[in-house]
Amino acid sequence: METQLPKAPQKRQVTAIIIVLILLILWEVDGMTIKYSVLEERESGSYVANLAKDLGLGLGELEARDARILSKGNQQYLQLEQKSGNLILKEKLDREELCSDTDPCILHFQVLLKSPVHFIQGELQLLDVNDHAPEFLENEILLKISESSHPGTAFPLKIAQDLDVGSNTVQNYTISTNSRFHLFTLNHSDGRRYPELVLDKALDREEQSELRLTLTALDGGSPPRTGTAQVLIVVLDINDNAPEFAQLLYEVQVPENSPVGSLVITVFATDLDAGTYGELSYSFFQSSNQVIQAFEINAVTGEIRLKKTLDFEEIRSYRLEIEASDGGGLSGKCTIAIEVMDVNDNAPELTMSVLISDIPENTPDTVVAIFGISDPDSGENGKMMCTIQDHLPFVLKLTVENFYTLVTERALDRESQAEYNITITVTDLGTPRLKTQHNITVTVSDVNDNAPAFSQTTYTLRVRENNSPALHIGSVSATDRDSGANAQVTYSLLPPADPQLPLASLVSINADNGQLFALRSLDYEALRAFEFGVRAADRGSPALSSQARVRVLVLDDNDNAPFVLYPPQNG
Ligand SMILES: *[C@@H]1O[C@H](CO)[C@@H](O)[C@H](O)[C@H]1NC(C)=O
Ligand SMILES: *[C@@H]1O[C@H](CO)[C@@H](O)[C@H](O)[C@H]1NC(C)=O
Ligand SMILES: *[C@@H]1O[C@H](CO)[C@@H](O)[C@H](O)[C@H]1NC(C)=O
Ligand SMILES: *[C@@H]1O[C@H](CO)[C@@H](O)[C@H](O)[C@H]1NC(C)=O
Repeated sequence: METQLPKAPQKRQVTAIIIVLILLILWEVDGMTIKYSVLEERESGSYVANLAKDLGLGLGELEARDARILSKGNQQYLQLEQKSGNLILKEKLDREELCSDTDPCILHFQVLLKSPVHFIQGELQLLDVNDHAPEFLENEILLKISESSHPGTAFPLKIAQDLDVGSNTVQNYTISTNSRFHLFTLNHSDGRRYPELVLDKALDREEQSELRLTLTALDGGSPPRTGTAQVLIVVLDINDNAPEFAQLLYEVQVPENSPVGSLVITVFATDLDAGTYGELSYSFFQSSNQVIQAFEINAVTGEIRLKKTLDFEEIRSYRLEIEASDGGGLSGKCTIAIEVMDVNDNAPELTMSVLISDIPENTPDTVVAIFGISDPDSGENGKMMCTIQDHLPFVLKLTVENFYTLVTERALDRESQAEYNITITVTDLGTPRLKTQHNITVTVSDVNDNAPAFSQTTYTLRVRENNSPALHIGSVSATDRDSGANAQVTYSLLPPADPQLPLASLVSINADNGQLFALRSLDYEALRAFEFGVRAADRGSPALSSQARVRVLVLDDNDNAPFVLYPPQNG
């Protein structure tokens, strides 16, 4: 009898699986980041770097380890040519579109190597190209100046926009040559430059009631790109008071989820003049495109409202310059600093990079999935926790920041559970908590780790002598807990222990179902009982088998007439 697994074959089998399936074993992180930079607007297919060389890997290794580039949200900018190890641009990248005002513009990616699993963090800095010229929102800027203004008085002018960043954005302003004004470019704390027209010599309305100048904005490119606007200066002969705001600086905080139309703040200016000259009109002044798109101002009431919903993840603060003009053309200015407050308005996202949904049994530490998680919110709203259900034989391992690997905790046994439904839950720590779930089903594939098992260790069959040949005398039966070919059982007779026993001419076995047949008529008087072994083997590779004993008892039939031994009948 042999129901125990033979030890040696099983060990060999597992070793073979480890080699064949190339087990993915985790490596710890070493915190390395590779950094590359590339100019924006380069054609797709442009060479960025040779990854193999930079990682110190042999040429075949990237291919052998199925190296790939991962990035958040499936947005792929880079492509890896596994053969050459070259990293190339997958598409033409526009810095203005990808990063807007953010400088430097850094796109994050990861390099994933398998067997063993290894992550490398990567950064691609997109360098600005001076592909946009400064632009004024209006072609003509109207400036009304009282002839009583003293030389040295400064008049702020509207600014030009430039979509580029850094030195490629507006650096300086100039004004066409004239005898009355010079231009001064101020550096603001927000990094922008602001033009101010400074009066050099008192104006005389009788001599010149209007003055037309050309304002030019220059960016820092080489050569610089420019944008121009006309400044129409109208000289007024009235002598009144300019409007004055209650505060020069207003500071407001606005939650990013405030609805369109919400009141942000009401500004208020006073003018000592009554009548027409006292009626004030409020408007934006020196405000960026972003301000004009996001806010609107009521010219009469000074109410500033949201024109679109704000997004903390996109723009975190705004600076609004507001002008109050009286009917006479004199104006006063104030600044509103708006801070956008983060609200937990984004649920975490999960990006599956590798999913192996069919894993072999008996192999611990097998990688099932590799995925990244992200949450664009900031602070606690963007911190995440990643879990799976309790009591599953799988564990989550944080591989590098925000990248997890799901591995088997121990060897799985298909015969006890062949399928697992795993729910990966990613929760942020914001208020309210937002979560994302991702369900995966992992099936455990069979390995031939069970030998067929006979229903009995010994079978005893009784046959009445003088049977007809080919009589079905009984059956043996074995089952195998594996599946497929690993569970297909075939039966055979073992050679008898007693070499004198002509077993092959006595019984036969049906290889498929274990039915036993007496081949010829048995004679109790010649053979009262006999014993043999049967074997059940599966079709696995290598095959596993077990054995059982079969004992056949021949039953006596009254087939011989009595005869008298003494005295002899013929005597
Ligand atoms: C700005 O332009 C003026 C006039 O051309 C020039 O004198 C000045 O040096 C420039 N400033 C900068 C910072 O380039
Ligand atoms: C503004 O900054 C530029 C460069 O940072 C510098 O050259 C210039 O002198 C500054 N101008 C003022 C008025 O501070
Ligand atoms: C897994 O989910 C599928 C579909 O919902 C279900 O049919 C199956 O029974 C589940 N398996 C387990 C082991 O829970
Ligand atoms: C994932 O599975 C859980 C438990 O079976 C179920 O409640 C949930 O709705 C599923 N989620 C998705 C996204 O299918």
